[in-house]
Amino acid sequence: MRTGTDSCPGRVARVKTSAGLAEESETDRGSGLVVAVDGPSGAGKSSASRGAARALGLRYLDTGSMYRALTWWLLDHGADTTDPEVVARLAAEPVIEVGTDPAAPWTRVDGTDVSEAIRTREVTDAVSAVAAVPQVRARLIAMQREIIASAGGIVAEGRDIGTVVAPEAPVKVYLTASAAVRAVRRTAEMAGGPPVTAAQTEADQALRDQRDAAQSAMAADAVEIDSTGLSLAEVVARIVALATACAGAVWTA
Ligand code: DC
Repeated sequence: MRTGTDSCPGRVARVKTSAGLAEESETDRGSGLVVAVDGPSGAGKSSASRGAARALGLRYLDTGSMYRALTWWLLDHGADTTDPEVVARLAAEPVIEVGTDPAAPWTRVDGTDVSEAIRTREVTDAVSAVAAVPQVRARLIAMQREIIASAGGIVAEGRDIGTVVAPEAPVKVYLTASAAVRAVRRTAEMAGGPPVTAAQTEADQALRDQRDAAQSAMAADAVEIDSTGLSLAEVVARIVALATACAGAVWTA
């Protein structure tokens, strides 16, 4: 784990030497910068990732929205989201699309815009079980890799971006915050349903963290940023500084 944001923790690009010996670059210069942002729910990943993407002129991918989109579709079709066999059988059915403009991201399922609908409590309560099903992860991770590969530079947020989806990303951030602060942020994000208190959200969140644990990991070369006492602008500035340091290391070597 690293905590500083002044230097790049990622791979240093190796270039052709004057002797003509080509050492492979682990980061393809032509494919653009990939910034992986992982961390638990409510740590502020979405706002920080969108802000960093805008500041850096990169695309933005919310991988959690894809797990939510599939969950929304399963619920909409009356499927039992707690039955892994049912979920596995239906995992490839819906057409899931995401927009990667950080100024206006969207999520569609079978052509329907579900950007709002996937934030309801019903979806939030059901999504962990769906995301734990291997067939779901295989499909969505493959989609995420395609989106990242064709983006020409992207900030991708989730739980396993730095470890599984894009382990070659030269910039990896693990964003955390205290449980209390995360609960307050999560409560503010929730749409529809009966009102919930931050205390209730904190209890739900502890349970969800436990369920998501198998899918969540901090990469060994990630920089941990604790956003508890930081403003959104400060978190964005730290990610941008890190990405800038990494871009320098990767692209000017
Ligand atoms: O970040 P979020 O709350 O929108 O994520 C929704 C769910 O999807 C949550 O249960 C964690 C899971 N998820 C995952 O397993 N892998 C990801 N890359 C992103 C989210």
